[in-house]
Order: sequence, then structure tokens, then C-alpha cells
Amino acid sequence: MEIKLRKYREKDLERHLELFLMNGIYKKINEKIKNQEKIWLKKVIQNYEGEKPEFFTIAINLDNKLIGNLVAEKIDYKNKTLEVGFWIGKDYWGKGVATKALNLFLKMIIKKFNPKKIIAHHKKGNFASGRVLEKAGFKFEIEKKGMKTYNIML
Ligand SMILES: CC(C)(COP(=O)(O)OP(=O)(O)OC[C@H]1O[C@@H](n2cnc3c(N)ncnc32)[C@H](O)[C@@H]1OP(=O)(O)O)[C@@H](O)C(=O)NCCC(=O)NCCS
Repeated sequence: MEIKLRKYREKDLERHLELFLMNGIYKKINEKIKNQEKIWLKKVIQNYEGEKPEFFTIAINLDNKLIGNLVAEKIDYKNKTLEVGFWIGKDYWGKGVATKALNLFLKMIIKKFNPKKIIAHHKKGNFASGRVLEKAGFKFEIEKKGMKTYNIML
């Protein structure tokens, strides 16, 4: 099992949409969704070039196949905080992929953005996410409106 983080490419669109279907985020992909995701992907790729991007998204490859992504968003360059999120295709759950990918991503974003605090949220009942965050060194901070917040202080 080889897990690699890599930049998105425009040709990832079809596979990205396939992963949305796999996770039941959409039942069917129509033109509107396709366009919306095409715009998202363009922005993701543009952000690789920017000096202070609004968000930074990286693709997760498992054995050379796109299976999900991680994002650093709400990047506050002044206060040096940012939030991370991640998701992977259902077929690949329960193999330690998210934990491994998150650990690699944390190293990458610490180097890139030099944050003082990294924040992450998940819905209260999403136990797998909580475990992944804990295994990557996040500490539970607070629960509010059905959301749990974690952080890493650097
Ligand atoms: C959350 C998610 C990323 C986990 O990915 P994954 O590759 O299966 O995660 P890992 O295999 O690295 O670790 C999962 C951990 O959660 C545990 N877990 C899974 N389901 C669980 C449950 N219902 N209750 C308690 N623990 C659970 C596993 O046992 C494992 O912990 P362990 O190593 O201590 O045994 C994946 O389920 C996902 O993409 N979900 C949809 C999107 C999402 O929720 N994103 C997170 C929002 S920030």
C-alpha cells in the first residue's frame, strides 16, 4: 500500500466525480455539478501558484490512484492559523489511509505555512474522523452545535 500526496491536475475531474458517487454525496452527476467541480478544480490548481492562497488542496494517491483529498483552508496569514479537512472514497476506508495521509499533509503545511495553530472540526457522531485526528496528534478543544473542534498548537 503506497500512499502519496500530490497536486491535482485538470484530468482528475472524472475520477474526482466518481469518488463523489462512491461516497453517495451525489446520486447522479449532472452538468451543473460537473461545471461546479470543474471550477473548483481550476481554483485548486491556480492556488498552487499563488503566494498566499485562500486554500490549499492536495490529492491523495493510493497505489497511483486518486482516492481523496486533504485541504488547508481559512488560512489566516496574520494570526498564523488554518483549518484542515480530509475525505477519502468509501472503498478505501478502514485501512489507515487517512491517518497516514494526514500525517504527511501536516508536515507539508507546517513547512509551507508555518502555522501556530492547526484546527480541525468534525460532526459529533463521526467517530472515525475523531480517531484520525487524535492519532495525528490533535487535541480535543470544544464541542458546539453538534461539531467537535480539535487543534494542534505549534
Ligand atoms: C473519516 C475518514 C477520513 C477516515 O478514513 P480512514 O482511512 O478509514 O481512517 P483510518 O483507517 O486512518 O482510521 C480510522 C480510525 O477510526 C476508527 N473508527 C472507524 N469507525 C469508527 C467508529 N464507528 N467508532 C469508533 N472508531 C471508529 C478506526 O478503528 C480507526 O482507528 P484505529 O486505528 O485506532 O483502529 C473517512 O471515513 C472519510 O473520508 N469520511 C468522510 C469524510 C469525513 O468525515 N471527513 C472528515 C471531516 S474533517
